[in-house]
Amino acid sequence: MKDIAGRGQWATKTGFVLAAAGSAVGLGNLWKFPYMAGENGGAAFVLVYLGILVLIGMTVMLAELTVGRHTQLDALGAYKKLSAKWAWVGGMGVLCAFLIMAFYTVVGGWAIKYFLGSFATAAANIDFVGFITAPIEPIIYTLIFCVFTWIIVFFGIGGGIEKASKIMMPLLFIFIIIIAIRSCTLPGAGAGLSYYLKPDISQINGGVILAALGQVFFSLSLGMGCMITYGSYLGRDSSLTQSAWMIPTLDTAIAFLAGLAIFPAVFAFGMEPGQGPGLMFATLPQVFGQMPAGEFFASIFFLLVIFAALTSAISLLEVVTAYFVDEKSINRSSASVIGIIGIFILAIPCSLSMGSLAGVHIIPEIASMNIPAMGFFDAFDFITSKLMLPLGGLLLCIFVGWVWGTDNAINEITEGGISSFPLAGVWSILVKFIAPIAIFMVFLSGFGVI
Ligand code: TRP
Repeated sequence: MKDIAGRGQWATKTGFVLAAAGSAVGLGNLWKFPYMAGENGGAAFVLVYLGILVLIGMTVMLAELTVGRHTQLDALGAYKKLSAKWAWVGGMGVLCAFLIMAFYTVVGGWAIKYFLGSFATAAANIDFVGFITAPIEPIIYTLIFCVFTWIIVFFGIGGGIEKASKIMMPLLFIFIIIIAIRSCTLPGAGAGLSYYLKPDISQINGGVILAALGQVFFSLSLGMGCMITYGSYLGRDSSLTQSAWMIPTLDTAIAFLAGLAIFPAVFAFGMEPGQGPGLMFATLPQVFGQMPAGEFFASIFFLLVIFAALTSAISLLEVVTAYFVDEKSINRSSASVIGIIGIFILAIPCSLSMGSLAGVHIIPEIASMNIPAMGFFDAFDFITSKLMLPLGGLLLCIFVGWVWGTDNAINEITEGGISSFPLAGVWSILVKFIAPIAIFMVFLSGFGVI
């Protein structure tokens, strides 16, 4: 174990909030949230998402940051320090980071293709399906995305991550608002707005709730120790409670705006809201086509998407890197190289599963549990979002609530009573009872047990 100074700390408080928000805000908001909503009943999904966000998302966010700041260690080390028997939960988080990165870098690569495409011809002219099903080209873009991610992690915490976040995050926010305005004012946008904003309660079922739960964890970077690792770089003087509601609020605002940019356009152009992972790539170039200087906007937008994806990807690679550095005493540069090479190797079958390996299913259909047959890309997404992340969150709540104890946690949050935490009692109940039971129930209903 190294001392705090030796691992580096966030230079400034806003630097941390921006970097943590940078981890949270990524493809999960811009690419995944809209298509998940589109596949799961539109506004009904949004409603369930918001409920889970407040009840479970913010609770788990505070728990993770607290464990991180208290132990000043990576995910596995943090668990191990507080209770050796729990180290495997942290280990599961490291594995999870590999699996998420395997498909995340593929989608990051798609964004690079669209960025370059908006210069070459027009993003709207790219044949999305033709591109992602090709054997070689998407893998080259995935590799480019991996290399960028690695470069930032290689140069360490303060230098790379913080500086870049400060410029790009606010810019992304402004851009997505501009695009949402254009989309909402298209002729025929109304149908999309009501699909996205008027919940049809009858659409809500176990599958929708599990999808929303998984998406909350994915979008907030929770359930696998990412926020433990980021919290570990925090100094004592930072407000954990403030971060625990500000990061989720910002994250949700961006996801919501992404939906507002996409759904009105989907309906205005007569497209299919439930088309899945291609949704953002198929619709937004059409919206840009309806804007003055559209190709200019498209290129800047896809640049911001790439950036948002990078600030998230570095947090995932950081989990892997911090593990090798803190637990295996490997130096930072070798650790990040080993991590990214492993990730790229896993990303190859993910990319190929869109085309050449389309028929290869690594998860078979289990109809009685609502599980369809899945290839690499879908399987890694399913295993992480719908199983490992919520399970990691469930275990974290039990760990903080019952093993380490909410008294110790609250002591860390308030710095031994120096700062106030008026919701301490409510949070204790949420961590000990409500969040773990709710997650368990969502599993049962999502897999058709109840
Ligand atoms: N939250 C990021 C996004 O929305 C992805 C991400 C980064 C993530 N770190 C994570 C997801 C940790 C789960 C766990 O794009």
